[in-house]
Amino acid sequence: MQRADLDWENLDFGYRKTDWNIRHTWRDGRWSAGELTAEEHIPMHMAATCLHYGQECFEGLKVFEQRSGDVVVFRIEANARRMIRSCQKIFMQPPPEEMFIEAVYKVVNANRRFVPPYGTGASLYIRPLVIGTGPQVGVKPAEEYMFMVFVTPVGPYFKTGFKPVKLVVEDEYDRAAPNGVGDVKVGGNYAAGLRASLRAKAAGFTEVLYLDAKHKRYLDESGPANFFGITKDGRYVTPHSESILPSITNKSLFTLAEELGMNPERRPVDVEEVFGFQDAGCCGTAAVITPVGSITWGERQAVYCDGDVPGEFCTRLYKKLTGIQLGEEPDTRGWIRSIPTEN
Ligand SMILES: Cc1ncc(COP(=O)(O)O)c(C=O)c1O
Repeated sequence: MQRADLDWENLDFGYRKTDWNIRHTWRDGRWSAGELTAEEHIPMHMAATCLHYGQECFEGLKVFEQRSGDVVVFRIEANARRMIRSCQKIFMQPPPEEMFIEAVYKVVNANRRFVPPYGTGASLYIRPLVIGTGPQVGVKPAEEYMFMVFVTPVGPYFKTGFKPVKLVVEDEYDRAAPNGVGDVKVGGNYAAGLRASLRAKAAGFTEVLYLDAKHKRYLDESGPANFFGITKDGRYVTPHSESILPSITNKSLFTLAEELGMNPERRPVDVEEVFGFQDAGCCGTAAVITPVGSITWGERQAVYCDGDVPGEFCTRLYKKLTGIQLGEEPDTRGWIRSIPTEN
């Protein structure tokens, strides 16, 4: 296999054309067999429900080449199950777990030359999505759906990589409501977050840190990632909230924090607590762990890092998590699956 000619060490987090994507259609009560295609566009009815009523959800996971040369995926069944929940919550036809996994394997195998080499810091980002393609005028679920998976080789989400970022607490705009759809990965949540995110960037911050929409007092999450703080006595604390995405990375870090003796807690976190943390991070598939250098809330600022140097706790967790993903640390929990090559 001739690897694609890319500057692997310097990839940003963005869309890059690869060779193949895969598509399944739900029609007349069943999913079609997956069809690999090189086509980047989707022919669609102008009254498709994804265009009008937001019937759309997606996932994000990563494939790595390990030191051994194995091509592996991290906790794929958790992404498959979360996509099922997202579909159910907005009344779309969910792709069965096995079909999801099979589709990812097929599309990765078809694009093997785009899997970044071990040691470059890059990975192959997998983007599954489900859209309502059947036409409706009047708010109703579609009768036809498309499940597709495309891939793109990526570097770090925040262009600084494993370097501290600046967050600002967003206490005006809401991203999601407590009994709404903030806990699933539907496109509308991200559209709702653009205003706050672009405003924060224009003001010189990297991203926002949302407060809960009901009380405007407890931390929710950052725009594209969950949040955790480390207390002065070394505990890993992450918000419990009905309106945040249950991050698979955060759940994994929670487990690793237990192992590292950081007595993790998932509970409502009062925004005032940010002034008592010694370290903090954003976490997610794309963000991995991104150390938080400072959090600004109105006139006040909490600072965690000395210049560009990530905090000690973020560094330990980062090494542990990426070590497992890259096969440098043992995977004792079955988080890693090797993607079998097709004959
Ligand atoms: C809003 C939001 N929160 C959190 C996460 C992190 O979730 P995960 O660790 O499952 O990627 C993501 C990214 O998927 C996200 O978009």
